[in-house]
Amino acid sequence: MNAAPPREIERILFTEEQIETRIGEVAADISRDFLGQELKLIGVLKGSVFFLTALALKIRVPLRIDFLAISRFTNERAAPGIVRLAKDLDDSIEGEHVLLIEDIVDTGFTTRYLLQNLAARGPASLGICTLLDRTPRRIVQVPVNYRCFEIPDRFVVGFGLDSMQLYRNLGYIAALKPE
Ligand code: IMP
Ligand code: MG
Repeated sequence: MNAAPPREIERILFTEEQIETRIGEVAADISRDFLGQELKLIGVLKGSVFFLTALALKIRVPLRIDFLAISRFTNERAAPGIVRLAKDLDDSIEGEHVLLIEDIVDTGFTTRYLLQNLAARGPASLGICTLLDRTPRRIVQVPVNYRCFEIPDRFVVGFGLDSMQLYRNLGYIAALKPE
């Protein structure tokens, strides 16, 4: 379907085709790196769901998936970057090869919190795979093992990323018009 983008969209950064191609490349890297092993993909609800399913369909090693959800303290007076688990994993990850699947690593606070939380559960290995990486805004350093795209310092939506829960179902990734 080629519907015209919503009016709030300023420009498309990555088309559906570019995203599919790039996810295929990253899936090939992961399949090669984990050859002969079993893998667990952990998705962070809700933004990473679209990326996780597209990626999982292209990975060629046996894998399991699990999800967690986080909530952020939106009160401006609370310290920035404070997150807590709103939904935990269904299963243990002890002794497993785990990849945390993110929609975007921005300041890095969310990812660092999740990494520390998951590392404490004794996985055999733990890595990060993100659809988007916005390094200009990074505040805390996190080791990103796989990334599909670097993006500039613009708020983006589509392919799972939202603005007030809208636009997740756009097949492309786009910058929103400044309000
Ligand atoms: P961090 O803790 O600053 O790295 O925040 C990462 C989270 O913020 C992501 O998982 C997204 O939910 C959200 N986020 C950051 N930048 C964007 C964006 O450009 N569009 C939509 N969501 C974003
Ligand atoms: Mg969001």
